[in-house]
Amino acid sequence: MGSRWGLLGPVGRRRMSFLLLLPLLCPAALSETIRYTIPEELARGSVVGNLVKDLGLRDLPTRNLRVSAEKKFFSVSTENGDLLVIDRIDREQICGKKSTCVLEFEMVAEKPLNFFHIAVAIQDINDNPPTFNRNITELEISELALTGATFALESAQDSDVGVNSLQQYYLSPDPHFSLNQKENPDGSRYPELVVKAPLDREEQSCHYLVLTAVDGGEPARSCTTQIRVVVVDANDNPPVFTQDTYRVSVRENLPVGSSVLRVAATDLDEGSNAEITYAFINIGKAVRQLFKLNSKTGELSIGGGLDFEEREHYIIGVEAKDGGHHTAHCKIQIDILDENDNAPDITLDSESKHIREDVELGTVVALIKTHDLDSGFNGEILCQLSGSFPFKIVQETKNTYKLVTDGALDREQTPEYNITITATDKGKPPLSSNRSVIFNIADVNDNAPIFHQASYVVHVAENNPPGASIAQVSASDPDLGPNGHVSYSIVASDLEPRALSSYVSVNAQSGVVFAQRAFDHEQLRAFELTLQARDQGSPALGANVSLRVLVDDRNDNAPRVLYPALGPDGSALFDTVPRAAQPGYLVTKVVAVDADSGHNAWLSYHVLQASEPGLFSLGLRTGEVRTARALGDRDAARQRLLVAVRDGGQPPLSATATLLLVFADSLQEALPDLSERPAPSDPQAELQFYLVVALALISVLFLLAVILAVALSLRRSSSPAACSCFQTDGVCSKAGPGLSPNYCEWTLPYSYNLCAASRSSKAEFKFLDINPENAPPQDLLCNEASWFESTSNDNPKMTSDSVHLQQVSYFKILSSHKYD
Ligand SMILES: *[C@@H]1O[C@H](CO)[C@@H](O)[C@H](O)[C@H]1NC(C)=O
Ligand SMILES: *[C@@H]1O[C@H](CO)[C@@H](O)[C@H](O)[C@H]1NC(C)=O
Repeated sequence: MGSRWGLLGPVGRRRMSFLLLLPLLCPAALSETIRYTIPEELARGSVVGNLVKDLGLRDLPTRNLRVSAEKKFFSVSTENGDLLVIDRIDREQICGKKSTCVLEFEMVAEKPLNFFHIAVAIQDINDNPPTFNRNITELEISELALTGATFALESAQDSDVGVNSLQQYYLSPDPHFSLNQKENPDGSRYPELVVKAPLDREEQSCHYLVLTAVDGGEPARSCTTQIRVVVVDANDNPPVFTQDTYRVSVRENLPVGSSVLRVAATDLDEGSNAEITYAFINIGKAVRQLFKLNSKTGELSIGGGLDFEEREHYIIGVEAKDGGHHTAHCKIQIDILDENDNAPDITLDSESKHIREDVELGTVVALIKTHDLDSGFNGEILCQLSGSFPFKIVQETKNTYKLVTDGALDREQTPEYNITITATDKGKPPLSSNRSVIFNIADVNDNAPIFHQASYVVHVAENNPPGASIAQVSASDPDLGPNGHVSYSIVASDLEPRALSSYVSVNAQSGVVFAQRAFDHEQLRAFELTLQARDQGSPALGANVSLRVLVDDRNDNAPRVLYPALGPDGSALFDTVPRAAQPGYLVTKVVAVDADSGHNAWLSYHVLQASEPGLFSLGLRTGEVRTARALGDRDAARQRLLVAVRDGGQPPLSATATLLLVFADSLQEALPDLSERPAPSDPQAELQFYLVVALALISVLFLLAVILAVALSLRRSSSPAACSCFQTDGVCSKAGPGLSPNYCEWTLPYSYNLCAASRSSKAEFKFLDINPENAPPQDLLCNEASWFESTSNDNPKMTSDSVHLQQVSYFKILSSHKYD
């Protein structure tokens, strides 16, 4: 460019110099000022003008032309006197905003030394674009800004002057904004943003605009800046709930604090204008306690125990409020779902806690009612008994049942039932409840007393003390109270019913059997009682048991000699022995009886005294007297044997008998011997003899008196049927009830039936006392009785005169035959 400028320079310069310098030449001629005009920013070396020519200088090399200035932009070519640019000339730097810019300096010439004034005017070129201070400008405009509102924008700067300075602003097209250009008082321009259409932050919160500044240069230069318009929010939107009505189902047993649902309202505004708080509206205090609403989050949670059974639905109003005054409303419908949270309830009704043990099957003993607050399956109940009982539950209606007996009750086995009734609902999981009831089984007299033994047998030794306890029976009765209170009695026996009480008695309470008298084995061997145990129920129940009392023998009877007996006058009878009797001849037999039995009645015979020892022998067991040798010449014709009869008891009892034996060939021969009573050899025997005689005499007199009295009363009596047996002084005996005919002891190979019709025998034999009035006649052996009758009337003395062996009573006589 320098070169172009240099080539074209002289032409342009001349023309310009002419135009400009003409008016100046005159003063210049005066002051010698040379003026040039150059554009700024010429390249170094560019020629401004030719000073030699313009100053009219000759002889250039000698003049030593040079530039004199503080700052040198120019120099002079020493060859041709051209004024050259030697430094950058920036008009804006040198002159700033001045509209004209002139550089003035002097040229110094020597020989002669002279000044030449030079003024170089610098012309502006469009070398600077307009500039904005910032690349981005941020602007906040409320969304409520009215249409036409203006907002000043920063202006751009352009250091060029004149037409090169900033001329126009342009705004990128935008529906909401337009641009106004305003002029400052100094003439500079600034842009203004105009709101062309209403703003809505909710629609567009930010607008991006581009502002362009353009200068008037040729070519024009421009710059841009971004403008960010932020639409500031205004509370122009109310909150809005996402739903008008929220609906939720909630289980009734949700724990406190559980979240149920969340209501949400939105607000298109922002900041505090969009800060929503939630609150209940129009709800009661009770409901307010059941639910909690988080005012910030809108979360609804459980605040108290929900109970389906109390209320099934709730409708709650909620209000949302933003930072301003806008509100919105919604409803929450809460449906409570039933949970199985209620156990069934059991109500029991019974007439009495006591059930008789004999109640019929199916008797209703209690009414049961169940109740469950829950609904549906949760409230359906199954009622049953836990455990096995003789009871069952019968369903009556949906919720009522009957407890009925379903088996036999036995108080003695189970006196009490603790019945547990369980009601279970059909919820998941099921709930159940129990109810216990205790039934006492009332006693009924359904058990008879039971004896501890099937039968009792006791042995009682005879001659027991009257009043002694001989046995005890006992029975038990499992019933209660009077039903189980047992008392004893004797209901039957094989004893004479009237005499029974004189034999035995039983203590009603203890069952102890007492003997009422001393028993006599010889009279009563055994007897049997039927004892009854009876409770005191109504009706009473009883049981029988047999008690067999065996009267055991004691050796209380001495043997009694039946033969030989004393004569009626107390003299002994005699037996005759033929003189020629061979040894072993059976002379006689001592016959004795013992009322006892067994060993106590096992008799043995012993010779105590003999006038001629060795002449006779005596069978130890038989009592048979036999000749031991032939009668000698020196032996006396009359012999006497004293025989002792002893039984086998412990201690033994004994009796004696005297045998008179006369050796004679005929009775006549013997009689004189008899009349010739041998004088008692010793005074002892004599005394005995007299005693016997006296006793016999007294007996005869007494007997006579008795017979007389009986005969007299008989004659007066009109009852000839009375057994005469008792009208005599003879005593009849009958075997005791326990002594059956087949009652044989090992000591008794056979038995004799004897009737000893002697008054002396009366003292030694004990007979059963039988009163004529209560003894049936057939009980007597009446063939013998009639014999007595016939003889007693004819010869009352007959019985006392002789001894008769009769079959009247059972007496056991030990026979010597067995033991021979
Ligand atoms: C009855 O039975 C129930 C359950 O087994 C028990 O809890 C209760 O104590 C019993 N009652 C009596 C009095 O034994
Ligand atoms: C017991 O014996 C009495 C008298 O013999 C009789 O009446 C009664 O029926 C008997 N009782 C029983 C249970 O056998």
